[in-house]
Amino acid sequence: MAPKSPIARQPWPESASRPMVSPLQPAVVYASDSPDALDQQYAGDLAGYTYAREGHPNADVLARMVDDLEGAEGGLVTGSGMAAVTAAVMGAVAAGDHVIGGDQLYGRSLRLLHETLPAFGVATSTADATDADAIAAALRPETRLILIEIVSNPTIRVADLEGIAALARDRGILLAVDNTFTTPRSIRPFDHGADLVIHSLTKILSGHSDATLGYVAARDPALRERIEIFAVTTGLTPSPFDCWLAERGLLSFGLRYDRAEANAAALAEALAGHACVARVLYPTRADHPDHNRAVALLGPRGSHMLSFEMKGGRAAANALIAAMPELPFAPTLGDIGTTISHPATSSHRALTPEARAAIGISEGFFRVSVGCEEPGSLAPIFARGLDAAARV
Ligand SMILES: Cc1ncc(COP(=O)(O)O)c(C=O)c1O
Repeated sequence: MAPKSPIARQPWPESASRPMVSPLQPAVVYASDSPDALDQQYAGDLAGYTYAREGHPNADVLARMVDDLEGAEGGLVTGSGMAAVTAAVMGAVAAGDHVIGGDQLYGRSLRLLHETLPAFGVATSTADATDADAIAAALRPETRLILIEIVSNPTIRVADLEGIAALARDRGILLAVDNTFTTPRSIRPFDHGADLVIHSLTKILSGHSDATLGYVAARDPALRERIEIFAVTTGLTPSPFDCWLAERGLLSFGLRYDRAEANAAALAEALAGHACVARVLYPTRADHPDHNRAVALLGPRGSHMLSFEMKGGRAAANALIAAMPELPFAPTLGDIGTTISHPATSSHRALTPEARAAIGISEGFFRVSVGCEEPGSLAPIFARGLDAAARV
């Protein structure tokens, strides 16, 4: 005999005490008491869910947690970071508008600007986000939105956030900030004039490389609603299970970030002292090209991300990776453990060697997403790798 559907009886065993962990709610559809009740729900007079693509409790619980970190209200969790970038931009612009992006945005955000938006009648340009004058020079009368990341990936350059925010405010243009790299532990873009804040929650906020999610919050409730309509209509909704996993990950975000950042600062020092390393890019180092701005914006928060350039070409790069088998060679970031990536063969492979050279990405250039290992354990691993590279 088939078991009775749980909604035909008490759907959840009653308990006077509360669970310590959010329930996982994978239901796609919700049953209502009556057409009147459903009508009231759709009208917003009764709280509740109707269909998971339109919203579900696990997404809302997670969204409120990220809201708290960002000092935001009503943020929306999406099915990936790119879903959040896309929903933010598409909710804000219409055909005939113009969008400016930082010229060193995450690769898929650049593709959204270069390929997808023009196909829908939205003109786009990119400009150097470390220079507010370069952004100003790209402005057009129909510019509606500027999209930047505060620290560029993988070159670790620091955007002129204050200058660009002032420009956007003066011209009545929306400023969208992708805060994935910097995280709200370093900076809260709403405190610096952003109109939209975006995250790939796939990265260090959830932090275990097991959930693909994004987040977008808008200062203006009307814009927030347009973004939600776009996300729900185009199905950018997150999976309840991923939200549930990310909620668990987020609870330890502060601890993980602080450990990873301390490890990154120590590793930056160790790398800079190695004869085989030509340069290290880490914001709190005095030799960083945007050091003063980094200190003004981010204070002592150098973050978990660093890049370095090693002497030698592809053969030396192969030798480095081969000599550090305990570090995953993987083009992701924000995992619990350290990962290392080689932009010339991954994120920036589509650029010509000349175009890569122009932004400082050579065959010896590596990006490191530093993890939560025991303090002091990374330097010997990198020393081993660099010594092997030096022998090539
Ligand atoms: C800065 C930044 N924004 C957005 C994304 C896209 O996020 P997702 O991979 O979750 O779609 C990434 C991914 O690496 C990223 O690094």
